[in-house]
Amino acid sequence: MQDLKKARFQMTWAARVMAIAGLAVIAVGSAPARADEIDAAARERARLVAITVCGTCHGRTGNSTQPKFPRLAGQSANYLAAQLKAFRAQTRGDPDAISYMWGMASELDDSTIAALADYYSAQKAEPSSNALSLQGGTGKQIYEQGIAAEGVPACSSCHGSDAHGVGDFPRLAGQHSQYVLKQLASFQSNMRNVAVMHGVALNLRSPEMSAIAAYLEAQP
Ligand code: HEC
Ligand code: HEC
Repeated sequence: MQDLKKARFQMTWAARVMAIAGLAVIAVGSAPARADEIDAAARERARLVAITVCGTCHGRTGNSTQPKFPRLAGQSANYLAAQLKAFRAQTRGDPDAISYMWGMASELDDSTIAALADYYSAQKAEPSSNALSLQGGTGKQIYEQGIAAEGVPACSSCHGSDAHGVGDFPRLAGQHSQYVLKQLASFQSNMRNVAVMHGVALNLRSPEMSAIAAYLEAQP
């Protein structure tokens, strides 16, 4: 509850910063921009929002140090833009998404979303300092081979052998294990409703999820 109150406070504060800086919704119905089409003004606006608003939770460069707040640095720009639009459309709906990100994203227009996504994808992903040093174990094995007997596919087939993401499949390397664990549970229960990851997570047991999450956080 304390957490929630703090977040609400931060959100009100963030909305104020955006309004003061004149960063609230400017254009309506603008077409989605590609990285090479983001103009200098949008880039600068996104950098300011990222540092002064988003940075309070996600870190200035998106290398959040708090396990509740996902790391965004080095993440696929298309993936980030899609998530921000899903928060804005209120379709990514687990309780943390609702209380922390729906309000945040409601303020953002398409060009700011494109520029924010580009900002984070261009940041260097730092290795997590919370990671346990893990050499291998069950997590690595599931990541690389899946669990055939339970119909769990190899994560590497979509997220890449180094977990850096492939195309629009998101980066997972260095992500906070607490966050990864929560997302897997949300995919399983369909609170975060994405068919492909629901299928992947459906038969994962909780110790297996924990092992994968710990393995992923330890990846550079
Ligand atoms: C008050 C804290 C807070 C602030 C400020 C905040 N976020 Fe978030 N953000 C969160 C939390 C918590 C989540 C995880 C939600 C969940 O668990 O589903 C999240 C998730 C995200 C995700 C999804 C990441 C992923 O890997 O799927 C993106 C993208 C994101 N935030 C971008 C932003 C941007 C851009 C801003 C600034 C406009 C911002 N956030 C401001 C707390 C915050
Ligand atoms: C068939 C392709 C595919 C496979 C296999 C797959 N994933 Fe995913 N995964 C995706 C897609 C697509 C998304 C993005 C979902 C969205 O758009 O919200 C995703 C998202 C995720 C996320 C959320 C990332 C974030 O930042 O919020 C996690 C965690 C994840 N996958 C873990 C895994 C694990 C662990 C495995 C293996 C057990 C796995 N995935 C296997 C396609 C796949």
